[in-house]
Amino acid sequence: MIKAFVVGHPIKHSRSPLIHGYWLKRYGIDGSYERIDVAPVDLDEFLVALWPLGFVGGNVTIPHKEAVFEFLDNNKTERAQRVGAVNTLWYEDEGIELWGDNTDGLGFIANLNQNLGTGWDQYVENVLVIGAGGAARGIVASLQDHPLKRILVANRTISKAEELVRDLERYGRVTLEALAWDDLDNALARSQLIVNTTSLGMAGQPPLLLDLEKVPDDAIVSDIVYVPLRTPLLAAAEARGLRTVDGLGMLLHQAVPGFERWFGVRPEVTPELRALIVADIEGPS
Ligand SMILES: NC(=O)c1ccc[n+]([C@@H]2O[C@H](COP(=O)([O-])OP(=O)(O)OC[C@H]3O[C@@H](n4cnc5c(N)ncnc54)[C@H](OP(=O)(O)O)[C@@H]3O)[C@@H](O)[C@H]2O)c1
Repeated sequence: MIKAFVVGHPIKHSRSPLIHGYWLKRYGIDGSYERIDVAPVDLDEFLVALWPLGFVGGNVTIPHKEAVFEFLDNNKTERAQRVGAVNTLWYEDEGIELWGDNTDGLGFIANLNQNLGTGWDQYVENVLVIGAGGAARGIVASLQDHPLKRILVANRTISKAEELVRDLERYGRVTLEALAWDDLDNALARSQLIVNTTSLGMAGQPPLLLDLEKVPDDAIVSDIVYVPLRTPLLAAAEARGLRTVDGLGMLLHQAVPGFERWFGVRPEVTPELRALIVADIEGPS
């Protein structure tokens, strides 16, 4: 049996076992994918024991993504190097070398591609990314590989947006600019793609309130928050007649590269898988 895991602290709310469990069943693979709760103080010991415990790899989630990045020294993809965090682990050379990747941005782009078609970047020049946390880093790093003109990064704490821009601007040709929170409304009128990467709009959090009146009619509004699926921002964008992309697809697509590495099959993000996770999000908790 092939064994993989997701490690975090806490971990009981992770939906990754549902996603990988669905694919294991769909492809008839003799494998397992388990949740493992490891406190930060025990993380290094856990990572060293992975291969002896029989694991071929796994996912890493909050709060361990940056610590695993540090643990791996040079064994990281260029994507992970740019982001400074790792969410996917696997072994090379039969347990000799543990490697790490960051697939959040890839999941974000694959979700846009699935919802809008792969040519969306032909008519998007300016992107407004709201938030400058871990998810924003992955998303900006992936957007940099597209033929865009400018990515504005607005954050409540402007110094974090400035740091993100400083870290990432050396990669690619897209201009990156940090933006003060108070300048958000002006930037909306100039943006063809608007992405919320903050936790605003998440169940239990205040909504992200934007004045969408000045947003171009052909703009796309994307929210990476997926609980609830239809966030107040997406509802407002729909009411304004804008195209919207919700955050669940990013979660599903970011899981694809890991499953392929561990279990040898490139899995498909199907409507059935999406429905399974929607039922879990909307069902009794
Ligand atoms: N769909 C997916 O697959 C996926 C993947 C990863 C994350 N997510 C979601 O994305 C969100 C962010 O995750 P993360 O890992 O990037 O978290 P993070 O590193 O903690 O960053 C949180 C971000 O939210 C901002 N923020 C928090 N409270 C705010 C408030 N009251 N007003 C304005 N800004 C506020 C923070 O701004 P400051 O810097 O000013 O604190 C920061 O930019 C979470 O809701 C997470 O569930 C979704």
